[in-house]
Amino acid sequence: MIIERLRAAKILPILDIEDLAIGEELAGVLQNNGLEIVEVTMRHPKAAQIVKAMKKIAPALIIGMGTVKSADDIVRAKDAGADFLVSPGASPRLLSALAKSGLPSLPGVASASEAMTAYEAGFSLLKFFPAEAAGGIAWLKAIKGPLPEISFCPTGGISADKASEYLALPNVICAGGSWVANKALIAARDWSAIEKNIKKITGLK
Ligand code: 3PG
Repeated sequence: MIIERLRAAKILPILDIEDLAIGEELAGVLQNNGLEIVEVTMRHPKAAQIVKAMKKIAPALIIGMGTVKSADDIVRAKDAGADFLVSPGASPRLLSALAKSGLPSLPGVASASEAMTAYEAGFSLLKFFPAEAAGGIAWLKAIKGPLPEISFCPTGGISADKASEYLALPNVICAGGSWVANKALIAARDWSAIEKNIKKITGLK
């Protein structure tokens, strides 16, 4: 189950990749360094093609597709071989499309009402986004009392240091962030910096 893999991984690296060849190289680096699970955003036209190529190179890597905003995005992500779906927010139409997708999904929420709406639609693991801007650790602590049935993967503005504070919360199963392999490191093909960051998170286990 994806939820168990996320819980074990603790950190969900969020990758924003624009270039196919770079995506292929990066997939090799991730696999060789024992990374098990990542999210690749759908922010670029080639995102689905890049995920398909990454899957060929690193078949054991679990890849979620993020920035899913429509039923069309879900079709493209499934076609690319995505293992799970992540959205930044959750409109009623998107929640229903995610529920029908057949893939594990983490809809994005940033308020109690949004969390309750997503839970009613069948989702009990939610992305809390944008975590730091929307209330961060204080928000998660406050929501635990009334909504103990919901777990969160907070993302948005979470640094390597801050991640461990989030992970100490009982309603957080993993923390997402681009810091492991941010856009600049990926574009510069700075594999050694990315390897160092991967070691930091694999050492968390
Ligand atoms: C996301 O897609 O969840 C965020 O853009 C990642 O946020 P970060 O770049 O601040 O880590």
